[in-house]
Order: sequence, then structure tokens, then C-alpha cells
Amino acid sequence: EQQSQTFIRSPIVVVLGHVDAGKTTLLDKIRGTAVAKREPGTMTQHIGASFLPWKALESICGDLLNRIKAEIIIPGFLVIDTPGHEAFSNLRKRGGSIADIAILVVDVQRGLEQQTFEAIDILRERKVPFVVAVNKIDRIPGWKSFPDKPFIESFQKQEPSVQFRLEEFLSYIIQQFNSLGFRADRYDRVRDFTKVLALVPLSALTGEGVPDLMLVLAGLAQRYLKKRLETKISSGRGVLLELKEEVGLGTTATLILYDGVIKRGDLVVTGGLNGPIVTRVRSLLMPKPLDEMRSPEDKFQEVKEVVAAAGVKLVAEGLEEAIAGAPLYVVTNESEIEKFSKLVEEEIKGVKFEKDVVGVVVKADTLGTLEALIGFLKKNNIPIRVADIGPVARRDLVHALMVKEKDPLYAAILAFNVKILPEAKEEAAMNGIPIFWGNIMYRLVEDFQAWHQAQRE
Ligand code: GTP
Ligand code: MG
Repeated sequence: EQQSQTFIRSPIVVVLGHVDAGKTTLLDKIRGTAVAKREPGTMTQHIGASFLPWKALESICGDLLNRIKAEIIIPGFLVIDTPGHEAFSNLRKRGGSIADIAILVVDVQRGLEQQTFEAIDILRERKVPFVVAVNKIDRIPGWKSFPDKPFIESFQKQEPSVQFRLEEFLSYIIQQFNSLGFRADRYDRVRDFTKVLALVPLSALTGEGVPDLMLVLAGLAQRYLKKRLETKISSGRGVLLELKEEVGLGTTATLILYDGVIKRGDLVVTGGLNGPIVTRVRSLLMPKPLDEMRSPEDKFQEVKEVVAAAGVKLVAEGLEEAIAGAPLYVVTNESEIEKFSKLVEEEIKGVKFEKDVVGVVVKADTLGTLEALIGFLKKNNIPIRVADIGPVARRDLVHALMVKEKDPLYAAILAFNVKILPEAKEEAAMNGIPIFWGNIMYRLVEDFQAWHQAQRE
């Protein structure tokens, strides 16, 4: 066996928050600021993610960085691009998440909202530490903006009445967190970041406060995630974030590699609709630098290998069957195929199930969304008979019909972001089985509950 070297990988960061809280704007700002610095080795684009190297962080944070002792240097952050619950739920691994840290974006004047609560639930359940970006401070009446400056500098330059207004908004948010059982405070008043949630007031639009956010993230990663970030150059482990049809390549996967290394030609095992998929890496693609692109189709460049943490496009046979949210293991020795196949199978079986109970039928598009939806339904005490991935088909109605005989109040299908096959639709209409469809989890569940309640009365 080769002697493998230990190194600190970059933490994987996700951005979550309510609709319109400013997730995309914040990501763009971080990326834009890093790109605008035009230093060598600033932001690099991955597939499904952007890599923010430590160098870029230093230039964003400036003097602020002196505030933390950099004991171990992380290479940077791998920031997952696709914000939102769906992407987050697919960053799953058994009992947790492959995300190391999350940024929860909250609108300063609106506080915690429906999807913020949902995000907090998921973060809590998956044990992901997070910092709170209290966004849109530039909208506070009377706020004077100091673009890209640290919050603590900008804050000092505000009128006392404006400072007071911000503090009022913050204390409301702190109260909201308290009522959820969290201690929270403005980040510069927090001593122990493992015990108290840090709130970083900022504006994703003007960039003020963004340095502070980066600093808190860096500090958290450096101090509290050391163990988790230690890795070896060993066989890779990742998760399929998303599946995508590419012209000329067939179905490809966005693979987020969180440990080890993956190479062209490697044998890999991942999860498919009909059981584990064993396949060989045909190619690994990364985005081509903009100035080397000859046409809009000329987007990718081949790489021979990728080291964690990274986002890469995986081209391989058999991915049409793959499930987003499924784990992927690199197999270095063919004798391990069976072991890894079993692992994958167990993991998927741990999410999808069929029970002989009176309950609803749940269909979702990915393993991650299915898992999140199951959690959400359980929390709302809604029993589940079938939890599965894929379109709503006739056999789902067979289940719903069996339930109808016992308790019509649960004879329903909840479809999250999946197709409803025509014959299933017909059969449902004929038998008076409602199919609830949605792509926002709490709304889907609310729709079902409203119907359930109405039927009862
Ligand atoms: P979804 O992806 O739809 O959930 O929204 P999002 O969270 O990505 O929010 P997005 O970044 O699209 O911002 C929503 C709106 O808020 C846009 O009109 C932004 O320009 C605005 N916005 C975001 N951040 C700020 C901010 O710091 N200040 C101000 N004034 N407006 C902001
Ligand atoms: Mg957005």
C-alpha cells in the first residue's frame, strides 16, 4: 500500500435562505469581488461550485484577517453555486451532509421567514454549523453605504439613530433564534462560535459586511472543523449533486467530491433507480477558462484527476439511471465492488421504503429531496406508505387505492418535482385520488393538509 499524505481540504460551503433573501446576490458579490481583484489564483470556476482560494480571501478581508489566528491554513472554500434547498438536500451523506458550513441568509427587516425555518430544520437535522448573513442593511432608512468595507467600519460611521435601528432589527432576529433554542449575537460580540450563532450584518448589494462574513467563515473552518477537514490522498468519495443531459455526452453528473481523489478511467460505484451502478469514468470535465472558449458549446476542458473538495462533471456510461443525491465511491480494487455496491444499496434503501401501513404515497425527484420530504412529513405526523423516486405511475395509485379502503383521508399522492404519467393521472381522476404536485416542500405539505382537513369536516 502506498503511503498516503494527509492534508487539509477546503471546506464545502452552501448558501441557504428564504426566497429573495439575497442568496444569489451574495454569491455573485463574493465571486465578483474576488474576480475584480484580478490577482493570480483568485476565484476558479468548478462544475456546480466555485472555488475561493485563501489568497482571494485575504484580499477581501484585508486587515480584518489579523483578528483570527491562522493556525492551519485551509486552501480556500468550495462554495456550492446552486443555492436552495434542493441542492442542499442532495449534498447528503448518511446521517448528515457533505456541506461543512452553511451561510443562512436573512433579510434584516423581515427576520426569519417560512423557508428560513425550514432551512434551519434541515441544518439542525444534518448537524451543519452555520453563520447568519443578515442581509440588506443598506435598506435601513438613513443607512450610508460604504461599498465593500467591513461592517464594523461602516457601522461606526452611521448616525446613532441608524445604528439603533439596526440593533433593533438584530435583537428581533436574535429573539427569533432564541425561541428556536439558539443563542445568537452580532458576530463581533461572540466569543465562542461553537455555542453562539454569529450574525453578520451585511449588504450583498454594496458588499459592506462581506469581509466580515468571510472572516467568520474562515475562523470557523480554521478552528472548529480541523478534524473534519483532514483528509488523505485516497480513493475518492462524493455525491451526485445533479444529473444533466449534455449534447454529445449523454447523461452526465455533477459530482461533488468531498474526500480523496478521482481519476479518469477509475471504476466507480453509485446509486441508480434499479440498484447500484458500477461504471468507469470516461472523462472528468471542468469549465474552460472564458478566454479559451471558442464557442458557447466549447465549455469544458478535460482533466486527468480531481482532488477533494471539488465540483466536477463526470462522464460515464449508465448515468441515465443514476439518482441525484446518491453517494459515489471510487473503487481502487475490483474486489471492493461488492462492498461498495452494498453500501450504496443500503444507503438508498435507508431512504426509499414501502410499508404496509395506512399513509400517503410520496414521490420525489432525487434522493435528497425525498429524504427531506420524509423528514418534513414525519415532523407533521403524516404517515407514509410509499417513499420513492421517479414519476407518479400507475402502481402508486394501486397503493393509494389500498389505503382508500382503510382510510380515505390518507389516500393521496404527494409528488415533489416529478412528472405525473398520463395513465396515472387518468386513474387518479377516475378513483378520486388527489395528486398534490409542488416544488416547494412546505407548500406541498400544506396543500395536502388543507385537503386532509377539508375531507375530515
Ligand atoms: P431566490 O433565488 O429567488 O430564492 O432569491 P435569492 O435569495 O437568490 O435573492 P436574490 O439574490 O435574487 O435577491 C432578491 C432581490 O433582493 C433582488 O432584487 C436583489 O437585487 C435584492 N437584494 C439582494 N441583496 C440585497 C441587498 O443587500 N440590498 C438590497 N437593497 N437589495 C438586495
Ligand atoms: Mg437565487
